[in-house]
Amino acid sequence: MLSVKENELLTKVGPGTPLGELMRRYWQPVTATAELDDYPTKELRIMGEELVLFKDRKGHYGLIEKFCSHRRVNLAYGIPEEEGLRCPYHGWMFNTES
Ligand code: FES
Repeated sequence: MLSVKENELLTKVGPGTPLGELMRRYWQPVTATAELDDYPTKELRIMGEELVLFKDRKGHYGLIEKFCSHRRVNLAYGIPEEEGLRCPYHGWMFNTES
């Protein structure tokens, strides 16, 4: 039987945890791309992180934190543009490169 410490080591996958850091080194399937054809953003919870997957108008995919780093607006309501996803509140742009 696993100890509490061993169990946490093998089951915690959030940022900064040993297993979380290992799993982030590998591709993880999170959705079918066709799901972004009708509506270009999708909220996801992956390995303890709240994220938004989006498809910009050039067809590039991006995965970013759910809440805008400026004033914490939910970026699932972001506006897809040629260069990325624009925050609907003050207009900060989040591209697919960083
Ligand atoms: S809240 Fe997103 S740009 Fe201000």
